[in-house]
Amino acid sequence: GIKFAVFASGSGSNFEAIAQAVRDGRLQGELVLLVTDKPGAYAVKRAEALGIKVCAHNPKDFTSKSAYETAILEMLHQKEVEWLVLAGYMRLIGTVLLQAYPKRIVNIHPSLLPAFPGKDALGQAIESGMKVTGVTIHYVDEGMDTGPVIVQEPFKIPDGWERDEIEQVIHSIEHRLYPETLNRLFAEALEESK
Ligand code: GAR
Repeated sequence: GIKFAVFASGSGSNFEAIAQAVRDGRLQGELVLLVTDKPGAYAVKRAEALGIKVCAHNPKDFTSKSAYETAILEMLHQKEVEWLVLAGYMRLIGTVLLQAYPKRIVNIHPSLLPAFPGKDALGQAIESGMKVTGVTIHYVDEGMDTGPVIVQEPFKIPDGWERDEIEQVIHSIEHRLYPETLNRLFAEALEESK
């Protein structure tokens, strides 16, 4: 199977959903590494519990984004990682990783892009009175939540719902959609490499 790394900065619930899908055989691939820019993130605890190796560097310890990403790249090469899967990694990917993984970096975002890129997409959607939101999975380029869309799933917000309730539904969509989409992408990539 395709060897891949998940990048996360926070809770890592998507990371865990992906890891579970790999274990259950719903996602054919090898999750070999969690990469984080936040060594104290809860995602790191989840990785340790799951027995998945962690690469944790604080970008502040490096003189540039390129130096930071070069340190990550070294580990990615060591683990023979072929695809990068961003799941709540709250940092722009730079030229070092983009050049090393052309069309092999994907991201999930909690809105129907191009609406509401960046931080707190759900808060932005609620603030602007949107009746429909959703989830987008897309290829990563140098922009913030830009890059070609792979799949989108809309969600109609019922009247009177609190932010927490909406957030739970968004997460449950993500936890199902990301493993199933990755499984398809990896299968296609394997087919193409034959
Ligand atoms: C997810 O909802 C993901 O879509 C979002 O961060 C959350 C991470 O949750 N990503 C972005 O907003 C990217 N701009 P998790 O750490 O529990 O997986």
